[in-house]
Amino acid sequence: MKKIEVGSLFLQEHRNLFQCPVCKGAFEKLDGHSVVCANGHRFDVSKKGTLHLLMKGGQNEYDKDMLSSRKNLADTGFFHPLLDAVYAHIDDPGSATVLDVGCGEGSHLHYLTEKGLRGTKIGFDISKDAIQLAAGNFFADAFWCVADLAHSPFGENAFDAILNIFSPSHYLEFDRVLKPGGKVIKVVPNAQYLIELREQLYALDTTKREYDNHQVVDRFCDIYPEAIKEELNYTVELDAKSYGWLMEMTPLSWGASEAALANAKANPLKSVTVAVTILVASKEN
Ligand SMILES: C[S@@+](CC[C@H](N)C(=O)[O-])C[C@H]1O[C@@H](n2cnc3c(N)ncnc32)[C@H](O)[C@@H]1O
Ligand SMILES: [Zn+2]
Repeated sequence: MKKIEVGSLFLQEHRNLFQCPVCKGAFEKLDGHSVVCANGHRFDVSKKGTLHLLMKGGQNEYDKDMLSSRKNLADTGFFHPLLDAVYAHIDDPGSATVLDVGCGEGSHLHYLTEKGLRGTKIGFDISKDAIQLAAGNFFADAFWCVADLAHSPFGENAFDAILNIFSPSHYLEFDRVLKPGGKVIKVVPNAQYLIELREQLYALDTTKREYDNHQVVDRFCDIYPEAIKEELNYTVELDAKSYGWLMEMTPLSWGASEAALANAKANPLKSVTVAVTILVASKEN
C-alpha cells in the first residue's frame, strides 16, 4: 500500500483522535485523501503519509542538518536511559494511545516502539522538516503530523499518555486531550545537562553557562500537586563522530564565540553528562 493510503486509512480508523484546528469541530469524514470537518475545512494527507494541520506556515527552530545530527546522536543510544525511564511510566505500553508533543525527528517514538510501545501513536511537531524526517525514517512507528501545540488539532479525552520530551507544554491542552487517568510525562533538562559542553563553550560567561529549570518544574508541580518527580543522571562516552553530532544538534553553540568554537573543535569532549528531571502526573478520573 502507498504511504498516502496508509495515512488515509489511519485517519479513517482514528478520526476521533483529531479535531479541526480552525473551528475545533470534529472531522466528519475522510474524502479521498483529505479529512474534512462540518464547516468544510479540509486537510490533505501528503504523499509521504503525513498530515499538515498548521493554519499558517510552521516555524523551523532547527534546520535539517541539526535534525539529522540529532537523529545520528539518538541512534548511538544517547537518550536510551532517559527513554527507558519514560517507558517505565507508561501504563499498558502494548496498547496505550500515545501523543508525542514536539516529537522532533522521531527517534524517541521509534526507540519506544522497539521497546514495546505498540498501541496507536501520533508524533507531531511544528517543524515540517522534523516531520518529514520522522516519516521518512520511522514511518511504521507512528502517524506523523505537522501541528502547533497552541492550536492543537487533537480530540478530547483521546490519549492514555502524552510525552513531552525537551519540548514546550500547554497544560490546558494536555488536560483536554488526555483520557481521565491518562498521564503526562515531561522531561526537562537539569542544570548539569551537557554541563561539560556549557563549560567548554562559555568558560567566561556564567549567564550562558548556567541553566535553571526551577520555574518549569515548579509550574508543573503547581498544576499537578501529586506529580512524581524523578531525577536521572548518566554519562555518555563520546567519540569524534558523536561529539560532532552533539555540537551540530545543540543550540548551545549558537551564542559561543569563534574562539570557543575553535577550541571545542580542537579539543573534543570524551564524555558528557545527561541530567534531567522526569515529571509524571495523571489527569483526574
Ligand atoms: C528541543 S526540541 C525536542 C525534540 C524532541 N522531543 C527530542 O527530544 O528530540 C523541541 C521541539 O519542539 C518543537 N516545537 C516548538 N514549539 C512547538 C509548538 N508550538 N507545537 C509543536 N511543536 C513545537 C520544535 O520544533 C522542536 O522540534
Ligand atoms: Zn473546521
